[in-house]
Amino acid sequence: MIKIIFTAPVNGARQCVSKAVIKPILLKKNKAWQCEKIIENSAFHENISESDLRSFLERLFDESRYKQINIITIDHVIAYRMSKKLKLSMTKSANSAVLKSSLSHDKEKDYLLKEGMPVLPLVDLGIFTDDFHIIKAKYYKFKQINSFLKNIISGMGQEIYDTLRIVEFGCGKSYLTFILYHYFKYIKNINVTITGYDKDRYVVDLCNNVARKYQYENLKFMEGDVSQITRQENADMIVTLHACDTATDYALHYAIKNRIKYIFCVPCCQQEINAQIKRTNEYSLLLRYGLYKERFSALLTDCIRCEVLNDNGYYVDAVEFIGEENTPKNVMIRARFTGHKKNHSDEIKKLSLQFGIEHTLLKLMNV
Ligand SMILES: C[S@@+](CC[C@H](N)C(=O)[O-])C[C@H]1O[C@@H](n2cnc3c(N)ncnc32)[C@H](O)[C@@H]1O
Repeated sequence: MIKIIFTAPVNGARQCVSKAVIKPILLKKNKAWQCEKIIENSAFHENISESDLRSFLERLFDESRYKQINIITIDHVIAYRMSKKLKLSMTKSANSAVLKSSLSHDKEKDYLLKEGMPVLPLVDLGIFTDDFHIIKAKYYKFKQINSFLKNIISGMGQEIYDTLRIVEFGCGKSYLTFILYHYFKYIKNINVTITGYDKDRYVVDLCNNVARKYQYENLKFMEGDVSQITRQENADMIVTLHACDTATDYALHYAIKNRIKYIFCVPCCQQEINAQIKRTNEYSLLLRYGLYKERFSALLTDCIRCEVLNDNGYYVDAVEFIGEENTPKNVMIRARFTGHKKNHSDEIKKLSLQFGIEHTLLKLMNV
């Protein structure tokens, strides 16, 4: 709900509220509502707690008996009108403001979730200010999570879902997790369930508290090291965003083992191979400079991950999910289970031998 607007009172007498606009706000970090009442061209404001909203609206309506009520949600404008003959009609149309921005070619179209949208958990998590503006220091993160979401949507194609189960590993403060939940549940009306795992107890408790506060019933956070997680989630999708080092390998292994249909992983700090890689073969030139060695190691780590996915029945592509100026760790591995297995194991083994590496995902998959 973005707004409710009451206009055209039947009792259009002086002193009556000629127009009232009710919007969600945060009061001391609690969800509440604010009503702006227009009385004889002056605006008056009143805050209403979430629990009092219903009785407040009934009282407001009883006092002036409005002939027009518009309810504006992210997707729709629902208009109730009372004709002169006291006939009630209702129309429902797409919210053109949202539609316009999704069709236009201006910069804003890249943001599925825009500044100003009342996504209350993002205030608690420190991405939005109390009036839903992006906090400057979090601008890059906001862009990242939006682009991540955009890639999920394009990766899922046209398929329609009534329910969707998502698991995220290394969710941290879970900006992405809350946005995914908000998008699928409240924008797409999909019955989404998300479990976010992190080994850090502090962030798990923090995120569970925020989810409870907004009654996000199907969003849960669990403490756990991804390498130890055996719990079956029957998930449709695995996501990771900058889960550290080999955490991505364990997440991919979990996805392969459970034949999870969609994988969206943005790896980070590929330390494992960088620490092992040896300059003993004819390509040692590639590893002479620290910076190139680090980049080459990251490339090797992720190329092997893609081939392992391929060999286990996934269609895979690697895309820059956001520009490098946002984050240098900007490559997303996108995979969809098709069941068509390839066989690159000989090439992978040869490569591993040549560079003297033991890749965690290869060990987990017994390659
Ligand atoms: C760089 S943060 C990214 C957090 C979040 N995904 C984001 O993009 O804002 C990495 C997170 O992964 C978690 N993590 C790292 N290794 C992990 C592991 N083996 N199992 C579970 N969580 C892990 C860390 O505790 C941390 O919260």
